[in-house]
Amino acid sequence: MKKEGVKLIENGKRLDGRGLDELRPIKMEIGVLKRADGSAYVEWGENKIMAACYGPREVHPRHVEEPDRAIVRVRYNMAPFSVPDRKRPGPDRRSVEISKVTKEALEPVVLTHLFPRTVVDIFIEVLQANAGTRCAGITAAALAMADAGIPMRDLVASCAAGKIDGKVALDLMGLEDNYGEADLPVALAPNKKQVTLLQMDGNFTRAEFEEAFEKALGGCLKVYEMQKKTIRKKYEV
Ligand code: CDP
Repeated sequence: MKKEGVKLIENGKRLDGRGLDELRPIKMEIGVLKRADGSAYVEWGENKIMAACYGPREVHPRHVEEPDRAIVRVRYNMAPFSVPDRKRPGPDRRSVEISKVTKEALEPVVLTHLFPRTVVDIFIEVLQANAGTRCAGITAAALAMADAGIPMRDLVASCAAGKIDGKVALDLMGLEDNYGEADLPVALAPNKKQVTLLQMDGNFTRAEFEEAFEKALGGCLKVYEMQKKTIRKKYEV
């Protein structure tokens, strides 16, 4: 973020040909892993992300269980080969942060009180990354949870908006994230109209923030429509 010297918008088009309000191409599929209770694979631009959901199941270690509800546990992980410079395997500050905010983005929709003393485990594996992996990961995880049949009040859809060459734009890709001025990832439980993730990297004016927030919410709703279609498709005969 905030590196100078690269022109990101030319003749109203972005480097990949998109307009300011356009999402990258997105593909979604559920039920892709046999061993998991639920799973999803999401391609979002050049991001490739697998999510697996297990549970509700017995909690290990026992002392983290809750007597009156299920806990939701998330591990976000990047494959060493997912980025141009090899990513050192294992947790780092960034993956611990993304795991935490992802858990907080998903937990509000789960009917945890139905399954005391259990855990819903979610694993997000980033196979290829090109900016916006937390949004794509949350989107994939919500699909995996639905696929596992976890009782939920709502789905969670996620999308970011940012600022490039002084303009607010939807869904920044890698170069835009590197050379742009700001990024604002948002997650939304659409039926509850509840924002479950809101982070900001870089600088917006107040007006730009409001524009970016609205744009990101619009992106979440588009993603939500794709999620519903993906789930329905599995059950069509
Ligand atoms: O992926 P997301 O935008 O949610 O999180 P970020 O921390 O803003 O990372 C932006 C992008 O930087 C990632 O999607 C990767 O493409 C890239 N990245 C990388 O190249 N090497 C890393 N070790 C971490 C991130």
